[in-house]
Amino acid sequence: MTEFARRVERVSISGIRKVFEAAGPDAINLGIGQPDFPTPVHVREAAQQAIADGVVDAYTPNKGILPLREAIAAKHQRDNGIAVDPENVIATSGGSEALHLAFQAHVDQGDEVIFPDPGFVSYDALTHIAGGVPRPLGLRDDLTMDPAAVEDAITEDTAAFVVNSPANPTGAVQSKADIKEFARIADEHDVLCISDEVYEHIVFDGEHYSPLEFAETDNVVVVNACSKAYSMTGWRLGWVTGSHRRVERMLRVHQYAQACAAAPSQYAAEAALSGPQDCIGEMVAAFEQRRDVVLDGLADIGLETPKPRGAFYAMPKVPEGFVDEVIERGVILVPGEAFGENGAGYARISYATGIEDLKAALELMGDAVAAVQ
Ligand SMILES: Cc1ncc(COP(=O)(O)O)c(C=O)c1O
Repeated sequence: MTEFARRVERVSISGIRKVFEAAGPDAINLGIGQPDFPTPVHVREAAQQAIADGVVDAYTPNKGILPLREAIAAKHQRDNGIAVDPENVIATSGGSEALHLAFQAHVDQGDEVIFPDPGFVSYDALTHIAGGVPRPLGLRDDLTMDPAAVEDAITEDTAAFVVNSPANPTGAVQSKADIKEFARIADEHDVLCISDEVYEHIVFDGEHYSPLEFAETDNVVVVNACSKAYSMTGWRLGWVTGSHRRVERMLRVHQYAQACAAAPSQYAAEAALSGPQDCIGEMVAAFEQRRDVVLDGLADIGLETPKPRGAFYAMPKVPEGFVDEVIERGVILVPGEAFGENGAGYARISYATGIEDLKAALELMGDAVAAVQ
């Protein structure tokens, strides 16, 4: 008899927190994975109104309130050019729960899951929690995921592969051709493509495409959230979109794990998705300006950085000992290995912070480079 479930044994608490604790309270924090903007006022007001009206005092339908699911369906039409039935959407407690549902409903004991390495920390953990076997996949030099490498990695045990564009921690954006290939691979190999699109709106160069636009089967499930686009990480509101049969399976997990997403957040999300969208453009313009400052600054101190085209992260190659030196100087970065074995030799910089802090941090990074060379 074991004391704990084996599924959870290999799951460790993300190393990112430990880095935060190692730096002092005055440190410049370039480790944070959330926008540094407030939630738009009209979104807050919608939640306040819903609370005042007393409509949030009870459970909502398991899938979420219909106006929110209609707003999500309208978003798919607007952004992806596809018609989605609101019944094929589940409102979740953030993108995190949406990912959890996708993994729990589709990954069986011993099933393999392919995901980018370096990649978002949840993919490995959720594979273990589902009893599956992680198959982390190294990336191209520009830190995008190569569809041919995904195809090569597929075995008869593969249940799913994860696409994350724009990506955390790399800022990489997959091309339209790659996204089409991912859809073809999901169709032809009959494996599920879990498309994590939480950064879909934060793209500077190129455009965001979803495999859902191109797949001919129902082998694509989309995970998304209000968290990054509307600076709503604390509201915990995301969703998963898939075919009727896939949503029905995911709903079984959601119903017993969560019952429904928090009602005030559902009203807030409806306002975010159906209200004015200029708040996104303003935030993205600020991120792009910072991206350029960071890229120039990193080049000046001699760190080679694959150009990030989206999200709010840069991932330079760094010399040995660099991250420790930087943290000692009061700048928090996340070492690349926190995102998988292939992240070793890189560090993730989040530029969800003001330009002045970024410039000060770049100077300290320059000192750290000099110290380790
Ligand atoms: C790639 C990626 N997917 C999903 C999530 C989870 O988002 P949420 O805060 O909505 O749970 C994050 C959060 O950092 C992320 O970076």
